[in-house]
Amino acid sequence: MKATIEKRLGLKELADKVVSAEEAAALISDGDVVGMSGFTRAGDAKVVPLALVERAKNEKFQIDVYTGASLGPEVDRYLAEAGVIRKRGPYQGEPALRNLINKGEVLYVDGHLSHVAELVRQNIYGPIKFAIIEACAITKDGYLIPTNSVGNSPILADYAENIIVELNISCSESFIGIHDIYVPEKQGERGPIPVISATDRIGEIGIKIDPKKIKAIVISENTDAPSLIVPPDEETDIMANNLLNFLRDEIKAGRLTSKLAPIQSGVGSVANAVLQGFQDSEFEDLEIYSEVLQDAVFHLIDAGKVTFASATSITLSEELGNEVFENMDKYADKLCLRPQEITNQPEIIRRLGLISVNAALEADIYGNVNSTHVSGTRMMNGIGGSGDFARNAKLGIFVTKSYAKGGTISSIVPMVSHVDHTEHDVDVLITEQGVADLRGLAPKERVPLIIENCAYPDFKEQLWAYYNDAVEKTGNSQTPHNLEKAFSWYVNYAKNGTMVE
Ligand code: COA
Repeated sequence: MKATIEKRLGLKELADKVVSAEEAAALISDGDVVGMSGFTRAGDAKVVPLALVERAKNEKFQIDVYTGASLGPEVDRYLAEAGVIRKRGPYQGEPALRNLINKGEVLYVDGHLSHVAELVRQNIYGPIKFAIIEACAITKDGYLIPTNSVGNSPILADYAENIIVELNISCSESFIGIHDIYVPEKQGERGPIPVISATDRIGEIGIKIDPKKIKAIVISENTDAPSLIVPPDEETDIMANNLLNFLRDEIKAGRLTSKLAPIQSGVGSVANAVLQGFQDSEFEDLEIYSEVLQDAVFHLIDAGKVTFASATSITLSEELGNEVFENMDKYADKLCLRPQEITNQPEIIRRLGLISVNAALEADIYGNVNSTHVSGTRMMNGIGGSGDFARNAKLGIFVTKSYAKGGTISSIVPMVSHVDHTEHDVDVLITEQGVADLRGLAPKERVPLIIENCAYPDFKEQLWAYYNDAVEKTGNSQTPHNLEKAFSWYVNYAKNGTMVE
């Protein structure tokens, strides 16, 4: 172990900074704004947060935590349940933290993931006292090599007053060289970001740090918590086929070539399952330019379908994770992990003309999408990168099953209870019922497509009844709504446990 540590800690002057997790945790004070590495349960700071949990057993203190995206249980469950997190951003996905947010015990700032670095530059979150960053190695020329994610670590390390490094020696050395760290200049002083194709590398292998900022290095062997996605099912297979058929039609129409534009695929079980559908298709030579690489990407690499995948994090289910991380050599030349400011960068998303596929909780008859708030009030996870991609991609596609909770909830509703993606950002809606291509359509032209092609059959008549009544009430206005009834489906669900009238 000593030899491994010496090998991974290239900057020998930092050897005396190696301390226990408890000693590192003791550096953090009540009221601190703390940045942490980690993105969708990958590359999180883990051992220092657990030491903070222990500290909280005897001491009352609270911190604000900003990260790349959702973290694993060490922070978003145990630290949250210990009452240490006052405010959290910009994304979460752990049931325990979600409950605390929805009980008003933790403040949550949900935001577009491409925006976070700019907010840090503008000091919007307040001065960042500490950045706690998991690293695979610190090279002798002063680069901090991230592990399974990059997320916001470069900008947090740059702007934090102090840095605590969790040097994770269980991380495969094959990660060295996978990352491509490029940090744009401040706005107003910035040139074009030169990613012209998904495979381009434009930066350095690690995060250049000022060694003087490193106040503690903690040795860790803790691995990331596995992802919680469930495997594809019959309905997601149908949704995948619907997507593939839509893409085939786009090729016939000359809007796509048979070598597809790079694909972005969102978080969660449904987006993963839909991407998996490419495995048995005729599509070859696929490139991924995404935010998160979930299981499907590695299955597609193994099947020879995906030739290159660029993202900011790798988050895998337990069994696949064990296999992939033990055989990282096999994948290293096909992967690139970048800061989320680059993966989610509107400039690049638009330049590459991405095919973007994200999951929705619900959509309305005009094509507005809710990705975040159950029944308009309870936070699910957050908008994540879905807005970054949907607005800027060549094709902003949303997928959802047409129903939820055993058919008591319709995922197509009269008016969404919270809007994350407006009708202007939603090009195509896909459910297991079919596809609604909304591009170039006026609101009233979208209604029949969404109801007939995407809604669950039991709800179609009810949706038509709502729409026809709304047309009558508004005199056939641009976007007919009966505001007295627009949210009645949620009221019915809250009172009677079903949206069925
Ligand atoms: N109303 C209430 N609950 C709903 C619902 C609706 N209309 N639609 C789905 N749900 C519930 C499901 O029942 C399920 O509940 P459970 O956890 O109790 O089983 C849960 O939401 C997750 O739904 P599921 O269908 O399994 O979808 P998923 O795992 O693919 O997640 C999102 C879907 C929308 C929650 C997820 O994709 C997300 O958080 N998206 C926002 C961020 C994002 O898109 N980032 C991508 C950028 S790369």
